[in-house]
Amino acid sequence: MKLWQNVFSTDIDSLADAFNRSIDFDKRLYRYDIQGTIAHVNMLAKQQIITNDEGNRIVDALKTLLTDIENGTVVIDETYEDIHSFVELYLTEKIGAAAKKMHTGRSRNDQVALDMKLYVLDQVKEMQKALVELIDALIQTAQAHTKTIMPAFTHLRKAQPSTYGHYLCAYIEMFLRDLRKVTLVEETCLANMPLGSGACCGNTYDIDRMYVAEQLGFEDITYNSLDGVADRDYILDFLYAMSMICMHMSRYCEELILFSSEQFGFLSVAQAYSSGSSMMPQKRNPDMAELIRGKTGRIYGSLLQMLTTMKALPLTYNKDMQEDKENFFDAVNTTLSSLHIFTAMHKTLIIHKEAMYLSAKDSYITAVDAADYLVKKGIPFRDAYSAAAKLVNYCIDKNIYFHHLTTEEIATIHADFDAGLLEAVTLENSLASRNQIGSPAPEMVEVSLEKYLQRLAAYKGSATF
Ligand code: ARG
Repeated sequence: MKLWQNVFSTDIDSLADAFNRSIDFDKRLYRYDIQGTIAHVNMLAKQQIITNDEGNRIVDALKTLLTDIENGTVVIDETYEDIHSFVELYLTEKIGAAAKKMHTGRSRNDQVALDMKLYVLDQVKEMQKALVELIDALIQTAQAHTKTIMPAFTHLRKAQPSTYGHYLCAYIEMFLRDLRKVTLVEETCLANMPLGSGACCGNTYDIDRMYVAEQLGFEDITYNSLDGVADRDYILDFLYAMSMICMHMSRYCEELILFSSEQFGFLSVAQAYSSGSSMMPQKRNPDMAELIRGKTGRIYGSLLQMLTTMKALPLTYNKDMQEDKENFFDAVNTTLSSLHIFTAMHKTLIIHKEAMYLSAKDSYITAVDAADYLVKKGIPFRDAYSAAAKLVNYCIDKNIYFHHLTTEEIATIHADFDAGLLEAVTLENSLASRNQIGSPAPEMVEVSLEKYLQRLAAYKGSATF
């Protein structure tokens, strides 16, 4: 049975019918379809487009249907074309003629646009919740490690002294940006309730679009009916935000894989979040981190698919737009499950402070501090840089590090290298003197963490989830 059944003189070909059908994936929208229809029917009754009695009967039946689907009494019949057809035809069977009025002043084009926005708004909340939980966890670990020295890398070569707390703050920054992006998606969605756009040019009834918007929590309505049904920007915005979340998780995972390897030994992944090998009994593999890194490609794929689907579509609705669902639903589920595993895996990491410290100590990562030492005595930076380079090469030749050097040795490299230099190039002093906001001096990392806590508290204060 189709909503448009009696318009055609012959039945649709069975293969075409199956090809056209979207119910096996858009059935996920049942809650939003029913919610949107209730708001629409309430409006039709308020405007006397249908009677109050008809309105009440339809709304009661819709509420019952929602409970019945939720508790499993009603199973969505996948022989219908889509979820919209199922809801209307199911209700017609249940309450008869009144249900045939529920689609007055509405098209599936504006209906599906509304359903998708309601779905996005719900999933945005889940994403915000998951991000807040993650940022909370990262802040907690960072607070405990503002003095845990480790090298910072450029080109994956040991570069300068940092701390594990300072390192984690970089990821807190990223996920805070993601939270803002996701919240922007919410704001964009809430600002534009599309129902009333009709198939593409509105309708001829005295409808009250703002009343529908208010019932559903939207702040405003769309102001162009063509765009109202043709717009899928909010899906793309969300896919982009999810791509960024996954990209950030993936970078962390890449480092987790490296840092937990035998070669680094900075961290261990808890056994609960590791996998073993079927053959090599010694293995503890970081499968969760690899999977999160791997799944990131899927999210990018969905973003690219949707951009491609939309790129040459003439206004307004085209059936191509039905392709906005399967990959998108998958992207939402994948991002959410990745975020949950990611947070749990982070919280249970075992941190090997000594290995981090040794890696920093057995290196020349304070070489710039040696140059800076001379600069502070009035020597031009480029000359100071050459003297520091000489110092590094001297150590490499002798197979020693700065902490092995004596005052006599360093004086032969530059006349201004004295006992003070040996102090300046210790990891602790190098860190302590990097005391601008954003830099790794422990008290500066604490300042940043305070900022993040404030931002998160402000966010939680205004959040709607
Ligand atoms: N299943 C459709 C979609 O997801 C619903 C809208 C159908 N509109 C139409 N004119 N056939 O886009």
